[in-house]
Amino acid sequence: MTTHKPIKKAVFPVAGLGTRFLPATKAIPKEMLPIVDRPLIQYAVDEAREAGIEQMIFVTGRGKTAIVEHFDVAYELEDTMSSRGKDMSALEPTGATPGDIITVRQQVPMGLGHAIWCARAIVGDEPFAIFLPDELMVAHQGGTGCMKQMVEAYEEVGGNLISVLEVPQEEVSSYGVIAPGAEKSDTLVEVTGLVEKPPVSEAPSNKIISGRYILQPEVMRTLETQGKGAGGEIQLTDAMARMIGEQPFHAKTFEGRRFDCGSKTGFVEATLALALEREDMGDELREIMTRLLG
Ligand code: UTP
Repeated sequence: MTTHKPIKKAVFPVAGLGTRFLPATKAIPKEMLPIVDRPLIQYAVDEAREAGIEQMIFVTGRGKTAIVEHFDVAYELEDTMSSRGKDMSALEPTGATPGDIITVRQQVPMGLGHAIWCARAIVGDEPFAIFLPDELMVAHQGGTGCMKQMVEAYEEVGGNLISVLEVPQEEVSSYGVIAPGAEKSDTLVEVTGLVEKPPVSEAPSNKIISGRYILQPEVMRTLETQGKGAGGEIQLTDAMARMIGEQPFHAKTFEGRRFDCGSKTGFVEATLALALEREDMGDELREIMTRLLG
């Protein structure tokens, strides 16, 4: 039995500029780019629901209203489709429960840490989850999603928990990197330090933070006094690093696949991987790809 407060709220920082996807992201939020036929944000919200999260807090900015619209009832579409006898099933997965989506604005994109801090009034005094929707976490066949795995680990260890994965050492300088401590299991390790975008020679490991977090509400107070870090932005990693030693801090390796859809190659890889696995198009796509590669 757990004594830890359950995770019922999740913050989705979606106020970034998405410069790596320009010009596509000039008028469309990066989080609305589809992997096959579902926008990135939908995968993240579905993962949150699977993990038992009830309240979705979007930290948005200018030009991001399409994200909220996506979770609204599309009355005209439903009406027209039903009067024409069209199959409505494709509309269903977005149906949100009234009141479970809340938005706050980050007026200026000052970094991920700042975006999270913008949600402080809604998060209140509860532990909460964070999802970076451009990191697509895909469960193994019959397995559970990344956040559900994290919630299960959290029930054991409490405190702060981040999702990590191993990358080749030469790639670490693009990410937040952990210094690992004692191992609790094959996939759960204590965190003794955190550093954002370290030079390869100074990286404490090749385990990088991968877009999913469970944090205690005290991080909001830490963020309040957090100065600018790498890239001149207020970094969540720097604020989390200051909490190590004061609260339990662990890293969980996701048993599944992760696609970095914030990069163009990662995005295309995710599209191909998921499309190839789909019953309605996998075989056809395999033929097309064989032809293209030939
Ligand atoms: P990224 O580092 O991927 O930045 O942000 P970005 O703006 O989305 O994309 P590029 O690098 O310019 O192509 C990681 C996450 O943090 C959010 C982003 O929306 C993304 O989900 N973010 C980042 C904010 O919400 N606000 C910020 O000020 C910065």
